[in-house]
Amino acid sequence: MKSFGAKVVLDGVDLDIPRGDSTVIIGGSGSGKSVLLKHMVGLIAPDAGRVMVDGTELSTLDNRELTRFRSRFGMAFQEGALFDSMTVAQNIEFPLVRLDIGSAAERRERVQECLQMVRLEGAEAKLPSQLSGGMRRRVGFARAIAHRPDVLLFDEPTTGLDPVTKDVIDELIVELKERLGATIVTITHDMESVFRIGDWIGMLYEGKIISWGSPSDFRGTTDPRVGAFLGRKTVAPHASVPSAARTDTA
Ligand SMILES: Nc1ncnc2c1ncn2[C@@H]1O[C@H](COP(=O)(O)OP(=O)(O)OP(=O)(O)O)[C@@H](O)[C@H]1O
Ligand SMILES: [Mg+2]
Repeated sequence: MKSFGAKVVLDGVDLDIPRGDSTVIIGGSGSGKSVLLKHMVGLIAPDAGRVMVDGTELSTLDNRELTRFRSRFGMAFQEGALFDSMTVAQNIEFPLVRLDIGSAAERRERVQECLQMVRLEGAEAKLPSQLSGGMRRRVGFARAIAHRPDVLLFDEPTTGLDPVTKDVIDELIVELKERLGATIVTITHDMESVFRIGDWIGMLYEGKIISWGSPSDFRGTTDPRVGAFLGRKTVAPHASVPSAARTDTA
């Protein structure tokens, strides 16, 4: 449960994120998706209820423990701004420096690798102000994965990108999961992305996860709230969406 003033945003969310899979959270604008994602990494604490990661309740961690815990995460948040005074390379290198990962040469190499992954080779010396919005997003994405975290949280990573770049990011998400075994949670409004990257899809509605299942469960859903979100007028009469899988949260 989480309220801001009188506004209840999350109200009895019950969700287990399967380890090593790619989970997608969908829901209307203002439904609390970003707030939910921030709970997962302890940036927002619930008013009631618990957030458990690997059997540890986040509210029991002190600041130092929380910092160590967060180093396992890579995040690219919706509003996640780059450091304007730093070059692209310095932005991507930032988590490596902060976490004291690698020598200067190793870090440079890692930055190159990340730039390649997001198809931004050659942009290392640019300042964020010299990039397009889509390019800045990709730099944010590169920064999120630079320290090779085992949990990745992406808040609308493809919003506002052209279709080709969107494909690049979607493919990258699948690759991160398959190659690195990362647990990934992505918020997206893009239905193509949802079905391309999601092993599991959860829908947030009026503060609750009202629907959880595989992409095929979702395609066959009879829930009109989900159907409406998928932009469908009629829904299949069969198939239901199972309740949340009971897997250890990662
Ligand atoms: N720090 C905050 N203080 C006060 N209200 C907040 C705060 N963060 C979020 N809210 C409110 O919580 C609600 C849910 O916000 P959230 O950003 O999670 O929505 P969302 O589902 O991510 O929407 P969108 O798809 O537009 O990004 C909104 O009404 C928002 O105004
Ligand atoms: Mg949001």
